[in-house]
Amino acid sequence: MKLNFSGSHSQSHTIAGLFLLLLPLLLPNLFGPLGRASPSMFSEWNAPKPRHMDLLRGALQRQTSVQQQSRLWSPLANQGWKPCAETTKVPLPEKSRGYIQVFLDGGLNQQKMGICDAVAVAKILNATLVIPHLEVNPVWQDSSSFTEIFDVDHFIDVLRDEVSIVKDLPSEYSWSTREYYGTGIRATRIKTAPVHATANWYLENVLPVLESNGIAAIAPFSHRLTFENLPANLQRLRCKVNFQALAFVPHIRALGDTLVNRLRSSPNKNQAAQTKYLLLGRDQIGKQNAGKFVVLHLRFDKDMAAHSACDFGGGKAEKLALAKYRQVLWQGRVLNSQFTDEELRNQGRCPLTPEEIGLLLAALGFDNNTRLYLASHKVSSVWT
Ligand SMILES: *[C@@H]1O[C@H](CO)[C@@H](O)[C@H](O)[C@H]1NC(C)=O
Ligand SMILES: *[C@@H]1O[C@H](CO)[C@@H](O)[C@H](O)[C@H]1NC(C)=O
Repeated sequence: MKLNFSGSHSQSHTIAGLFLLLLPLLLPNLFGPLGRASPSMFSEWNAPKPRHMDLLRGALQRQTSVQQQSRLWSPLANQGWKPCAETTKVPLPEKSRGYIQVFLDGGLNQQKMGICDAVAVAKILNATLVIPHLEVNPVWQDSSSFTEIFDVDHFIDVLRDEVSIVKDLPSEYSWSTREYYGTGIRATRIKTAPVHATANWYLENVLPVLESNGIAAIAPFSHRLTFENLPANLQRLRCKVNFQALAFVPHIRALGDTLVNRLRSSPNKNQAAQTKYLLLGRDQIGKQNAGKFVVLHLRFDKDMAAHSACDFGGGKAEKLALAKYRQVLWQGRVLNSQFTDEELRNQGRCPLTPEEIGLLLAALGFDNNTRLYLASHKVSSVWT
């Protein structure tokens, strides 16, 4: 860990400290667990230095046989996954019991799960679902709305016989906005949904709000519907939402295809390296592996590091930075762990550092010819 005691740095400490004090005032509601704190404001944590350089170097020198290589790249054995079973259609109610609004935090993955849950909750309540609102996540900083990411007409159409869904609230409810819930305590906001709540919880706690107000806004809503003991038709409905109803808009699909094509064929600007790779590929790993690549999403960011309560070898400075970050970003929801760092690590509760991921890949048999891409955003310069 690099320590920097320059003037501007200590100034940023002061500002971060100040922000820490002001935070409860700046984010009074708190709408969504993460509010809108930007992690870029807290840059004291430098991702840790490599600690196993020799192991890593050795691992990369290891030769993998052609046989091992082709095993490595062959498709996984059938895992028994099946497409979603046909839903047994419980007909739409004659009359909707009101509108359900959800505000989804987390990254796109959690938001997708939240959308599946929201459709199931609307079904449980015989309510009309308003197209979910996606919160801006402080890590990903993506302000795209549902309709900018997913084909909303397809979504509504695929679920037409299951749940009634509207793009916007009718004008009589137009007051029910994110801003409205962000500025005060509101009778139509359900804030207390427990993690993995049961269908009954919604019938007992949300239905009455719908009955009296015609609308209920649920936030936070991440992981707020159980996976256990939910009627099979609701599970199938969730599956249908995830795999059939949620389709990316055409330009995102086209972009995805273009990206994959580019990843498969090496970048043109590095023609020499590309040719070398292809030659190596042919000689060493066989033609069938040409165009194969590994994409890694390290997700080794400050928020994850802080959330884990693990030690990454950066000493006292790292401890302080992560403790501060934990307090700011997770606002007291991550308590000091009762386990030591070693116990946490042995329990597999520490995010792997980029270096550990490298060792893991090498142990799996990926060698230094493997084309490796990093997904998502920047990785600390220590690793690039
Ligand atoms: C790649 O691995 C081979 C052994 O498989 C080794 O001879 C070579 O030096 C390695 N290249 C680099 C750049 O480490
Ligand atoms: C929803 O509708 C179904 C059938 O239309 C009915 O069996 C169920 O009791 C209704 N539930 C609620 C909460 O209205």
